[in-house]
Amino acid sequence: MTRAPSSITAREADEQVAGRAAYRAVIDRLSKASVDKHWEPYRDIPWDDPEYRVDPADPRWELPGVDKLGGHPWYRARTPETRAAIGLWRVATAMKIGLQFENLLKRGLLNYAYRLPNGSPEFRYVYHETIEEGHHGMMFQEFVNRTGMPIRGMPRPLSLVAQVAPLIPLISTELFFVFVLGGEDPIDHVQRKVLKDDRPHHPLEETIMRIHIAEEARHISFARHYLRNRVPRMPAYRRFMLGVAAPLILGVMARIMLAPPGAMIRHFRIPPNVVAEVYLRNPEARREIRDSVGKTRELCAELGLVNRFTRRLWRAMGIWAEPGTAGR
Ligand SMILES: [Fe+2]
Ligand SMILES: [Fe+2]
Repeated sequence: MTRAPSSITAREADEQVAGRAAYRAVIDRLSKASVDKHWEPYRDIPWDDPEYRVDPADPRWELPGVDKLGGHPWYRARTPETRAAIGLWRVATAMKIGLQFENLLKRGLLNYAYRLPNGSPEFRYVYHETIEEGHHGMMFQEFVNRTGMPIRGMPRPLSLVAQVAPLIPLISTELFFVFVLGGEDPIDHVQRKVLKDDRPHHPLEETIMRIHIAEEARHISFARHYLRNRVPRMPAYRRFMLGVAAPLILGVMARIMLAPPGAMIRHFRIPPNVVAEVYLRNPEARREIRDSVGKTRELCAELGLVNRFTRRLWRAMGIWAEPGTAGR
């Protein structure tokens, strides 16, 4: 009779070993893929090709009618040059905020890697990811420079607060990788949507997005596998704290990524009622924020981080949707 518990324990131990082996195989595969398939912005993007020149009046920058701002009568009443310039400004702002987020991310990854023990498979992968993010930062900044526009990234107060993000791994690596997904998922969501919209895109924008989506798929995969591997083994109180912090971080991150750029509103003198109609009182804008964290929300639910109490926080942050609706 005494054998039953020990065989269960043995089975659990076997499952744990199998789970760890599968996790390790994923990390090794991601590291290998980083070597086999990667891009370098100053080798793989023909910046000086005349086709790739950035002209703010190029009609390909114009926002489509299905866009929240692009379909607004105020926008439609602008000259074609202004419409194109607003579209380009928005693309460049997304890249600037993206490179600022990835700067914080790189510093956090290095803080995480600093403490990893010898032989840790995560060390090599995290260095690959940091190097790729270095390339992304260069390619985004080069694009911003070539617009010739005075593009600003995150609002200054937010940017100051964000400086604590690289320290999150010192408190909780699990929370850090939720932060990572909070930035990477909304960017990825928006870029995939743009590439799928069947409109002619500027070749430079298209090349940058394709490179970014391809490399981000690995980063997102690593963060998700890391959380799947770690969260089930966290002590209950730490898992509860993570469940509380996750919706707060994700709600703030999605808003930073998808918020209306203040500098653009001032530069083009977009009237307050237009901003309110497009970004604040618009159910479509709220849906986009909710959808952009959809995959991370479903991962959190799968990991047991959503309960009656934390669901209220997801709702309060405006990022809750019933399971099974991500990305719709
Ligand atoms: Fe990136
Ligand atoms: Fe990334």
